[in-house]
Amino acid sequence: MSDKLIIFDTTLRDGEQSPGASMTRDEKLRIARQLERLRVDVIEAGFAASSPGDFEAVKAIAEHVRESTVCSLARANDRDISRAADALKGAARARIHTFIATSPLHMEKKLRMTPEQVHEQARQAVRFARNLCADVEFSPEDGYRSEIDFLCRVLETVIDEGATTINIPDTVGYAIPELYGHFMRSLRERIPNSDKAVWSVHCHNDLGMAVANSLAGVKIGGARQVECTINGLGERAGNCSLEEVVMAVKTRRDHFRLDVGIDTTQIVPASRMVSQTTGFVVQPNKAVVGANAFAHASGIHQDGVLKARDTYEIMRAEDVGWSANKIVLGKLSGRNAFKQRLHDLGIELDSESEVNAAFARFKDLADRKSEIFDEDIIALVGDESVTAEQEHYRLLSLAQHSETGERPHARVTFAVGGVEHRAESDGNGPVDASLKAIESRVRSGAEMLLYSVNAITSGSTESQGEVTVRLQLGGRVVNGVGADPDIVVASAKAYLAALNKLHSNADRVAAQG
Ligand code: KIV
Ligand code: ZN
Repeated sequence: MSDKLIIFDTTLRDGEQSPGASMTRDEKLRIARQLERLRVDVIEAGFAASSPGDFEAVKAIAEHVRESTVCSLARANDRDISRAADALKGAARARIHTFIATSPLHMEKKLRMTPEQVHEQARQAVRFARNLCADVEFSPEDGYRSEIDFLCRVLETVIDEGATTINIPDTVGYAIPELYGHFMRSLRERIPNSDKAVWSVHCHNDLGMAVANSLAGVKIGGARQVECTINGLGERAGNCSLEEVVMAVKTRRDHFRLDVGIDTTQIVPASRMVSQTTGFVVQPNKAVVGANAFAHASGIHQDGVLKARDTYEIMRAEDVGWSANKIVLGKLSGRNAFKQRLHDLGIELDSESEVNAAFARFKDLADRKSEIFDEDIIALVGDESVTAEQEHYRLLSLAQHSETGERPHARVTFAVGGVEHRAESDGNGPVDASLKAIESRVRSGAEMLLYSVNAITSGSTESQGEVTVRLQLGGRVVNGVGADPDIVVASAKAYLAALNKLHSNADRVAAQG
C-alpha cells in the first residue's frame, strides 16, 4: 500500500522571513520557476497582505506557475484573506493559507484574545476564505504548544467550515519526534471529521529536529503534507529542509511507503539558486546539498566506493542533481551555445535584449576566466536579472593598490541614479578601502552584519569569488551578493547590491504579527 506525500515549499514565505533573506519580486519569480521544475506540489509564494512588494510577487508567481498550486499566507481576518485571493486570481491552482495562534501563551500575551474569541475568528476566517477559494489551509500557530482539547474543538470547526488542509506548526521548534508524531495522531483520532482534511506538518529547527519531527508526524501521525524550505532556510535555525525530507522518504521507501512527485535531479540547482539569491551559504557537510555530501576522503571509503558504490553511498550524487564541475562554455562559445545552455539550465530570460546583455557579461567573464561552469552562468544571470530601476547604484570601475607594508587604497567609480560618482579611501585591506570609498559618497549609515567570500566552483583559484554582504539600517536587514573573479570587485558589487535593496522601499509586516 502506498500513497502520496504532498511537498509544500515555503522558501518564498517562511524562508524569506529569515533576517537578510528578503528577495525582490524577480528573484522570487526565478526561484518559483525552479520550484516548479522541481515539481513541488504547493509553492507558498508569500504573504500578500504584508506589503505591496509581496502582493506583486505572489501575483507574478500565480500568473507564471502552471503546474504547482500557488499559495498565499493570510492572517485570520477578511482584509488579509481578500488580499491573498486578489493576488492569486491568475493562478491555475490557488490556495489560501490562513492562521491564528492557539497556544495559551500566544492568545493571552500576543493576541490578547480569549480562547473563545480565537475559536470564533478561526471559524469566520475559514468560512470567508472558502467563499473565495476551494483550497483552504488552516494553521493554528504555535499549535504544538496548544492545549489539546481546545485545539480539537477549533480544528473540528474549521474542517466543518471547509478547510481542506490542517497544518500543525511547531512554531518555536520545541517538539521531539515521538511526541510530535503522537500529538498529530491524537488530533486525528479525536477529531470526528479529521478524515475530511489532509494533515500537514510544519516544523522549525530550533533543536535541530525539524526533519526528524516532520518524518515522525508523517509516520506516526499520518500526515500527508510536509512544509519545508530549500536548504532549510528560515528564521533562527530555519525550517524543515526539503532536500533532506524528500531524500529520506525516497531512500527509505521501504519504511515510509510513500510516493513523492519531486524531480530530485533539480534539488542541487534549486539549492544553489536559493543560496546565491539570498547569500545564505550552504555548509559543506550539509546532507544532500553540501559540497562534501558525496565526497569520500578516507582511503578505505574511496576504495570501497570504487569496488561497489553502495558500500558507502546510500544515494547517488547524480540523482539529486550533482554534476562534476563540467566546463560548459569558453571564450569561443557563441551566442547560440550560450542561449542553449541557459535553456538547459531552465533559465528563461524575458527578452532578446536581456539575453544580449547576459551574453555580453558572459563574454567579459570568459575573457578573464578560461573555463565557465554552470554555477558561473547562474551567478551571471543573477546579476543580470536586476532591472534598471532596482539598480540605483551600479559599479562602473574599481582600482585599488595594496603592497606589503603600505596602507591599501581604492578608487571606485559608480553610478547613483544614472549619475557618475568617484570616491577614494584607505582601508585595512583592499576590500575595506573599496567599501569605505563607496560609503564615503553614499553615506547610507548602514551597519554591516556579515561579510563572507566563497568560491563559486571548487578546486581552483581561477574560480569566481562570490561575496555576501549583510547590512542593517533602521530595522531592515538585507543581503547583497556579488560575483567576480576579482574578490575586491565582487565585494563592491555585493555592497552596492545590498544598498540597492535598502534603497527599494519594501516595508513588510511580520508574518507572525
Ligand atoms: O511557524 C508557523 O507557525 C508558521 C505559520 C504561519 C504557519 O509559519
Ligand atoms: Zn513557520
